[in-house]
Amino acid sequence: MKNITFIKAKNADDLAVLSADFFLNTLKSSNSPPTIILPTGFTPLGFYKEVTTRYKNGDKNYGNFKYLALDEYLGLPEGDRRSFASWLSREILDPLEIPKEFRLTFASSTKNIPEECARMEKTITDIGSIDLAIIGLGGNGHVGFNEPGSPLDSVTRKIELTPETRQANAEYWGSIDQVPESAVTLGIGTLKKAKQTLLIVLGKSKAEILKKTFFSPISSDIPSTYLQKQENVTVIADAEALLEIESLIDINQCKLKRA
Ligand code: PGA
Repeated sequence: MKNITFIKAKNADDLAVLSADFFLNTLKSSNSPPTIILPTGFTPLGFYKEVTTRYKNGDKNYGNFKYLALDEYLGLPEGDRRSFASWLSREILDPLEIPKEFRLTFASSTKNIPEECARMEKTITDIGSIDLAIIGLGGNGHVGFNEPGSPLDSVTRKIELTPETRQANAEYWGSIDQVPESAVTLGIGTLKKAKQTLLIVLGKSKAEILKKTFFSPISSDIPSTYLQKQENVTVIADAEALLEIESLIDINQCKLKRA
């Protein structure tokens, strides 16, 4: 296993502050606007609030990056408020005044999905690097829409959503019938190109999968296990999420900060 840095947050608010600090370090250490992947979900909400508040209070560093989409539902009209692009615009990109040309998103209404996926891969190749991938952790080890079974060298592609994933998102959409049946996601192989990865994890319900992510055999059964071999991985997790892993970290030479 690579040397993974674990940072322990006291609670959700602390995770938001620590993540915003980490984000700022990346922004400040780049000469040109870095390319950064941002996740959707419950976990990053406090972090986005912290970052947008700091920006509003005058720290303009936070507005200086290119956003690269991690995943998106398919079959929605452009600008549909339920798309991930719209959600991220509301939560972080609009408040930070990220210019439209710095938002590298999927066309959710595309009729040519393979072409759209290829376009995204080419965009990443043309940019030259993904400077930072900030990702959340699914309860089954999914990253983006890379569900269990996703090859660890997969590229950007279409995914048929599992009934479990559609059920998990049903509340946001009103009912399961309204949740799109398919989506596009950057592949695990694509995410491996990131120079730096920040995994943010919150809550007791993630404790077991966080342990499996770093201590189960690397396998497409748990896509997040790719992180074991990834360079420059930092995990910011709250005390509850760290419950199962904390006693194991020293044994495996991971660093635990702020214990
Ligand atoms: P969550 O989602 O932050 O809502 O728990 C994480 C994920 O499923 O990737």
